[in-house]
Amino acid sequence: MYKAKRVCVIGAGPSGMSALYQFKQLEMKGQEIPEIVCFEKQSDWGGLWNYSWRTDTDEYGEHVHGSMYQGLWTNAPKECYELPDYTFDDHFGKPIPSFTPREVFRRWSKSKLRPWVHFSHVVRQVTYNDSTDDFTVVAKNLSEDKVLPAERFDYVIVAIGHFSVANIPSFPGIDQFPGRVLHSHSFRNASHFKGKRVLAIGSSYSAEDIAVQCLKYGAENIICCWRTRPMGFKWPPQITEKPLLSKIEGSIVHFKDGTRAEVDDIILCTGYHYSFPFLEERLRLKTTNVLYPEGLYKSILWTRGGNDKVLYIGMLDQAYTFTMFDAQAKWAVKYIMGELKLPDKEEMESDSRNWITKMGELKDVHDAIDFQTAYVADLVKESNYSYDLDVSKMLHAWCKSKLDNITTYRDQSFTSKFTGHKASPSHTPFMEEFDDSMEQFLLN
Ligand SMILES: Cc1cc2nc3c(=O)[nH]c(=O)nc-3n(C[C@H](O)[C@H](O)[C@H](O)COP(=O)(O)OP(=O)(O)OC[C@H]3O[C@@H](n4cnc5c(N)ncnc54)[C@H](O)[C@@H]3O)c2cc1C
Ligand SMILES: NC(=O)c1ccc[n+]([C@@H]2O[C@H](COP(=O)([O-])OP(=O)(O)OC[C@H]3O[C@@H](n4cnc5c(N)ncnc54)[C@H](OP(=O)(O)O)[C@@H]3O)[C@@H](O)[C@H]2O)c1
Repeated sequence: MYKAKRVCVIGAGPSGMSALYQFKQLEMKGQEIPEIVCFEKQSDWGGLWNYSWRTDTDEYGEHVHGSMYQGLWTNAPKECYELPDYTFDDHFGKPIPSFTPREVFRRWSKSKLRPWVHFSHVVRQVTYNDSTDDFTVVAKNLSEDKVLPAERFDYVIVAIGHFSVANIPSFPGIDQFPGRVLHSHSFRNASHFKGKRVLAIGSSYSAEDIAVQCLKYGAENIICCWRTRPMGFKWPPQITEKPLLSKIEGSIVHFKDGTRAEVDDIILCTGYHYSFPFLEERLRLKTTNVLYPEGLYKSILWTRGGNDKVLYIGMLDQAYTFTMFDAQAKWAVKYIMGELKLPDKEEMESDSRNWITKMGELKDVHDAIDFQTAYVADLVKESNYSYDLDVSKMLHAWCKSKLDNITTYRDQSFTSKFTGHKASPSHTPFMEEFDDSMEQFLLN
């Protein structure tokens, strides 16, 4: 039987919303559940999927969460992220294409979850009380500029995402560079780079998509430079890859292979820091963007904080996203409800070590997909999730189509695992579609 009386969920992005949804499912079945309080810094749910034109601080002087830009489309087919309980057909009432603009992807409307969420409330402080085995949480009502009285909770679910606090490395000479230097967190509109020679530093998804976006919106050329390995796509002639830069002299960038190039603007596509400034030090997950962070049993339960009551959702590198968050949420909710028994500490450590050892052996993105598929399957089994979430075949096919053609992969159609329907083809190829509105997309 569960003993928790109050649960605090921090963040109402896809991960936090899944936690709320899983609690609601139990409530709707007539099960008694703890009191749920969710604090969300933004004025709406959706996390990163809410577009913000702001780039530094918001209207309240808080860090802007959003890292998405105008014209952003999903970079993998929606069928890979489709929630079995609420398919895209359920939402739109008709088949739509596999790759969608940001606004189309952002949808949570089926369940009555809003009353649980305190919008425009930022969590300022979370401390664990050893003597009472619970937490004190301090939040601020941003619109009223009022810090609320401290509240006590039995469990804390941290679902604040980890693609919001920019990692900004320095390079010799960058301080004297005459053009614009920005991080992808502040990138909002590729047309600002029309006619420009752009350097994108990094070789992951942001570098890849920002290069393609800049090309689409008319940049003269884009050089992407890599630290560990190149992306290796068959790039159109305007996009090239080089090893990392070694120094910058004026507007000339020198690369490690001895070549150089003149550029107008630099975009740091160098990823993000995990950042939990409101958490007491011992409760803070410390990791880089990996598929299995240290110290998290099942990549969810924080085992190094002197208690087993802090759960993180969505805090890992992502091949799967929404469905994985949902499976994590189901596991977390079952655990809080007392329906999952933890093994002893040693067994938990050894389970995590096994995953982390396997993670160290992954060679490429295909291995990463298989690794995360196995992780999701493990959660599905442990939490008795009602659906098989394995979409690895689709993810492998998607990777292949990107290698075939990085500018046309978004024009492919995939078939939903849950409805069996094939996505409708798009009326306009991605590279020719400059209107990312819902209205234009739904003409499909
Ligand atoms: C540029 C970009 C493009 C992406 N494209 C895709 C894609 O095409 N497909 C895909 O599946 N995934 C994509 N992702 C991955 C993305 O991480 C997930 O889709 C998803 O948004 C993660 O959900 P989350 O809830 O874990 O985190 P987030 O979406 O980051 O939500 C976290 C929430 O926590 C809130 N919060 C933060 N701090 C506090 C606080 N102190 N108090 C209260 N609330 C707080 C934030 O306001 C936010 O609403 C993309 C990510 C980026 C950065
Ligand atoms: N829908 C879309 O089109 C879209 C667009 C953008 C992003 N996204 C999503 O956004 C998330 C974040 O992606 P991301 O690319 O921003 O972050 P990321 O995947 O964590 O990649 C960070 C990149 O920065 C590089 N890097 C870090 N520090 C560096 C340094 N000091 N010097 C040089 N390079 C450095 C890393 O290189 P190493 O490999 O050497 O570590 C890596 O290539 C992903 O989930 C992605 O799917 C989606």
